[in-house]
Amino acid sequence: MKKERLDKILSHHGFGSRKDVKTLVRKGLVQVNGKICLNCETGIDDEADEIFVDGEKVVLRKNVYIMMNKAQNVVTSTKDGIHRTVLDELSDDYKINFLGGNLHPVGRLDVDTEGLLLLTTDGSLTHHLTSPKNHVPKTYFVVLKNPVASSEQQNLVKKFALGFEVVPDGNESAFCCQSANLVWISENSAQLTIHEGKYHQVKRMFKTFENEVIFLKRISVGKLCLDEKLSTGEYRELTEEELSLLLEN
Ligand code: URA
Repeated sequence: MKKERLDKILSHHGFGSRKDVKTLVRKGLVQVNGKICLNCETGIDDEADEIFVDGEKVVLRKNVYIMMNKAQNVVTSTKDGIHRTVLDELSDDYKINFLGGNLHPVGRLDVDTEGLLLLTTDGSLTHHLTSPKNHVPKTYFVVLKNPVASSEQQNLVKKFALGFEVVPDGNESAFCCQSANLVWISENSAQLTIHEGKYHQVKRMFKTFENEVIFLKRISVGKLCLDEKLSTGEYRELTEEELSLLLEN
């Protein structure tokens, strides 16, 4: 087990800069495994060692996994001059450095897309979910501008299942999409499951057939579904079971 320095661990758990942590340690406010520790360089095993600061146990954690029901007008990128970012939406408890890495969104949703967005510090989970090789399914609820008659709906189901050439978008060239599963809900709404994530993919898939997506919400990633109890803009940490579901794909 790789050990990390006590000051690094405390700094990454919200106790301020290394200098702030040094002050806490020098004051004798930090205990490691029941004994006052005066040495900032003490090696800590985050799975076995217990740290108390000023009598309060520090819950050590390497990685954080968050499910967010992303709202419209919030961008998935980590910086934006105009809109709020998904990281701005998090409480201060999450605006710290984590041991596992930086908290970042897993993939992207457009500014006007709502729904399931994962945020994590775990780069290997991000890679697992976003690598094109893994074909992780993503399901969207789609509302279209133009109603589609039932004969045309069946035609689109077949075309989406076979894959087709998707129209270009700005600098993005046309591409052949992989097989996708389209399930109609009404004459202008459907659920679409895709196994890739090209730029504006869902919008472009319908644009290819001269329709327009006027509302888009992601409802699942892999085997993980958006918790319906989360209102738009809300978020919470994943349970252990939910995390295992994500690793199953
Ligand atoms: N497809 C889109 O067109 N937009 C998204 O945000 C996600 C998938």
